[in-house]
Amino acid sequence: MLSPELHVLVLAGGESTRIRTGGPKALLDLCGKPLLEHVLRTASSLPAASRVLLLGSRHRGPIEKWLAESAYRDWKVVLQAEAKGTGHAVAAALPVLPPAGRLLILYGDTPLLSPDSLRALVEAEGGGLLTAVLADPAGYGRIVRDEPGELRAIVEDADCDEETAAIQEVNAGVYCLDLAILRRALAELTADNAQGELYLTDAALAVLEETGGVTVCLENAPEEILGVNTLQDLALVAGVRRQLLLEEHMAAGVIVDDPATTYVEEDVQIGAGSRIGPFSVLRSGVRIGRGCHVGPFAHLRAGTVLADGAEIGNFVETKNAELGEGAKAKHLSYLGDVAVGARANIGAGTITANYDGKAKHRTVVGERAFIGSGTVLVAPVRVGRNAVTGAGAVVTRNHDVADGATVVGVPARPLHVPAAEKPE
Ligand code: UD1
Ligand code: MG
Repeated sequence: MLSPELHVLVLAGGESTRIRTGGPKALLDLCGKPLLEHVLRTASSLPAASRVLLLGSRHRGPIEKWLAESAYRDWKVVLQAEAKGTGHAVAAALPVLPPAGRLLILYGDTPLLSPDSLRALVEAEGGGLLTAVLADPAGYGRIVRDEPGELRAIVEDADCDEETAAIQEVNAGVYCLDLAILRRALAELTADNAQGELYLTDAALAVLEETGGVTVCLENAPEEILGVNTLQDLALVAGVRRQLLLEEHMAAGVIVDDPATTYVEEDVQIGAGSRIGPFSVLRSGVRIGRGCHVGPFAHLRAGTVLADGAEIGNFVETKNAELGEGAKAKHLSYLGDVAVGARANIGAGTITANYDGKAKHRTVVGERAFIGSGTVLVAPVRVGRNAVTGAGAVVTRNHDVADGATVVGVPARPLHVPAAEKPE
């Protein structure tokens, strides 16, 4: 019987050589979040007595910097001085782990795992490891079974002969193991393999043989185990994740015209009845109310908040932009660092000139204001409620437009019209 106390270890100490970007694999962007964040988020879904992240000396700097500002800053970091294999990595983490208990080990490059799959593994009597059957098993460790179907070996891709290479059941790289027995098994590892590394797989096999552990096969969701070793893998994994996120939005009542060309990143909120047109990009943190219209060809960046019924049309980019109920910007605009009041209309080609080369400044557009086509709003500036700007107006910084006023020209000046002709 395994001790109930669970500890979690995520390995991200590899050198990321197959990625070829020069930077760490862990920080590659996947749907708006670093690859590693996906793993830490899933790993955090289980109650654990301690959580440890293993990093390598080569890439620790940027990863630790990101971690310190993330929601996962309470994870304990441990270092592997040299990347000598996954078994060597776990051995390097042992000093910060207790002598006994259960250890859940995950690889930092396997971002699609679900909390449910981890739970199934953690609940397995005697511990275990996750597997899946892949149409193309190349690159993964193959699960070798004997006649009754018992686990006999895990053979790395580089060590496979032709017959073993044809096995389609592969190792996900997720293990739940008795920690005291694992300590012994790691001490006995040798690097007698094609890569000259200490393989965690060899130690995991030895532990499971001793504890009578099992393999848990992800029959319904084999794509969960997809790992990222190359940039081709990253593109494949991102495609899977993107479709999953869109399916969740559609299940909640969001109309997505063309999932194949719609990019909705992690942590985006969209209200029911809203419609997202083709070729639209919604970055992490964007919040959209109910009955909104976005796209086609819209780019909504961080800090964009649309109240119910707001509309963002084609070739509009928004950033730190709050649009009130029913506000519209339907064509060819850049709206940055701006608050647009309810039912205001932003004409085609309107630009907020929010950056003066040194700092970003804010623009405020009042309720029901009517911003004429081609207006440039040079921030900081404020356009009042029911105010109007003429086509092509350049409203210069700090030259606020009063409620109900009309301004025209370059630089924009008030236009005096008889009271009877003023817009409502
Ligand atoms: C590993 C498994 C393989 C499995 C696959 C699943 C081993 C020996 N092989 O292969 O059976 O099918 O994952 O995706 O475990 N790492 C370190 N220190 C090291 C080496 C690696 O921390 O010295 C980390 C990496 O940063 C990575 C993880 O361990 O997050 C896995 O390493 P990787 O080199 O990607 O192993 P795979 O070849 O994918
Ligand atoms: Mg890998």
